[in-house]
Amino acid sequence: MCGIVGFTGAQAAAPILLEGLKKLEYRGYDSAGIAVMDNSVISVNKVTGRIANLCEKTDDGKAVPGNTGIGHTRWATHGAPTSENAHPHLSNDGKFAVVHNGIIENYMSLREELIKEGYHFDSETDTEVIVHLIEKYYKGSVRDALIKTTNRLRGSYAIGVICNDNPGTIYAAREASPLIIGVGTDENYFASDVTALVSHTRNVIYLEDGEFAKITSEKIQVFDCLGKEIDKSVVRVMWDIRAAEKGGYEHFMMKEIKEQPAAVKATIAPRIKDGKVIFDELDISTDKLKSINKILITACGSAYYAGCAGKYALEKLCNIPVSLELASELRYSEPIIDEHTLLIVISQSGETADTIAAMKECKEKGATVIAIVNVVGSTVAKLADYAVYTWAGPEIAVATTKGYTTQVTVLYLLSIFFGDKLGLIKENYEEYVKCVQSLPRFIQQAIDMNPAIPTLAEKYHESKALFFIGRNTDYATSLEGALKMKEISYLHSEAYAAGELKHGTIALIEEHQPVIALCCNSKIMEKTLSNIVEVKARGAEVLALTFRNNEKIVSVADDLMFIPEIDPIFSGVIEIVPLQLLAYYVAKENGCDIDKPKNLAKSVTVE
Ligand code: G6P
Repeated sequence: MCGIVGFTGAQAAAPILLEGLKKLEYRGYDSAGIAVMDNSVISVNKVTGRIANLCEKTDDGKAVPGNTGIGHTRWATHGAPTSENAHPHLSNDGKFAVVHNGIIENYMSLREELIKEGYHFDSETDTEVIVHLIEKYYKGSVRDALIKTTNRLRGSYAIGVICNDNPGTIYAAREASPLIIGVGTDENYFASDVTALVSHTRNVIYLEDGEFAKITSEKIQVFDCLGKEIDKSVVRVMWDIRAAEKGGYEHFMMKEIKEQPAAVKATIAPRIKDGKVIFDELDISTDKLKSINKILITACGSAYYAGCAGKYALEKLCNIPVSLELASELRYSEPIIDEHTLLIVISQSGETADTIAAMKECKEKGATVIAIVNVVGSTVAKLADYAVYTWAGPEIAVATTKGYTTQVTVLYLLSIFFGDKLGLIKENYEEYVKCVQSLPRFIQQAIDMNPAIPTLAEKYHESKALFFIGRNTDYATSLEGALKMKEISYLHSEAYAAGELKHGTIALIEEHQPVIALCCNSKIMEKTLSNIVEVKARGAEVLALTFRNNEKIVSVADDLMFIPEIDPIFSGVIEIVPLQLLAYYVAKENGCDIDKPKNLAKSVTVE
């Protein structure tokens, strides 16, 4: 979590840092700060709350002179979101300012050591040890002090440093946290993410773990952990800058919901040629595939639920058992894994700490790792044996929408691809491919056929709790539907396998309790219908999601949302769309900050 930026060039640094921080605000938004160097004077401005407060305090940066600086937007881990705990942090001698994303796990012992040596601390953060260590080790070379400092740190970090002995220079170092250098003309940058850079430059250098950089307006030098200079290639970023702008929408989330037909199309396009599913990036041999006896999917949050939605297609088409494990659990569970395991890792950002740790653990045990990931060049993509990109483009709203649907789409495509390689799909191949090709059109229909959702949101937004129920593929989607609702509207929402209701949850059903019932799987519709009747008999109001011509459900539900009819194996991508819209409009009714829900961050780079 947290976002960092750095700039050096001829222009005023503060406005550029603030603009960059606004783009990174999705990574954390409880406090923020900038440190700008004007010749050799470092001035620091910090605020609690959003970047807007920092803009107000600094007159959009105009009040802060200087051409070199670093900035930070925070998601609090160590210490409350106060201005004291906000970054940048200064060394006791005022020579250095530091911003940091990540967690220094051994900060307590370092803090004690530094206090004994006479350093005083102004914050409760783990970060502050970094700046005092740099001061301690500084003997005229920031590079050497950085090497010595990072040698003492355990945990994860992307660090930005300025030093008033070196006006015009910014330093950066990384270990297990994303950090990218932006290569400009007579000016250079660093940032946690390309979205903060693309309005200035599309040429970037990806720093690897253990590397650090000395950056001036004319020169970028990258060093390994021993201080040896290394050659790095400059990569051209293809992301469309407009993707990181709201483009007339009130919220990024609605823009991204509406972008789903195009995003899913972009996911599918390179993978279906002449009616055949192909994956140029996956040269797994059929023999290797035949040796796989278990598929394990791991991820966090919505990416995990994408795995839940894709599991059914994988099992049905590939006839391989698929299990799912939350990455935060998997990493500590001593999983039984060997070279016959295929691990599918799912991550939009490619930087989720638990996901990275879980995949490392499984890789060490011999699993073949496929990563389904959106951010090109991210850690997950680099660590995997095979990176399969979702091509959803930048996703800015904290609550994922197009990230999720493109992940599920990749799982559908993989199911057909593997099933075919294994010789398991015969007569239905064409039909499956057509189904996946229809997904963008069906998503658009699911958006268009639900004009009543804002009215439903008016009816349900004051509910104490919302229960989502479904079976099989409907259950998988209800998990993501409930998560979407709780994360942006703050309504207590839970998903239950419809058959499990009787085993406890039904005790909570009382007069007017809303139950959102997903009924899009015709094979088990009757069963869900029985559960609907059971909750209705106890006074529940049922909002059902189903097909327009599904008379049984239509006649029994109190309210309805619709999707076009589709084979249940591939319905997850469509079913989630009305639930995203419902969550959006309920959150709007409740006056919530839809794109930046409280306490959340988009990229969770801490455990
Ligand atoms: C955070 C985000 C979720 C996301 C999860 C996993 O909680 O708010 O939207 O699903 O992290 O992130 P990843 O980048 O690994 O998909």
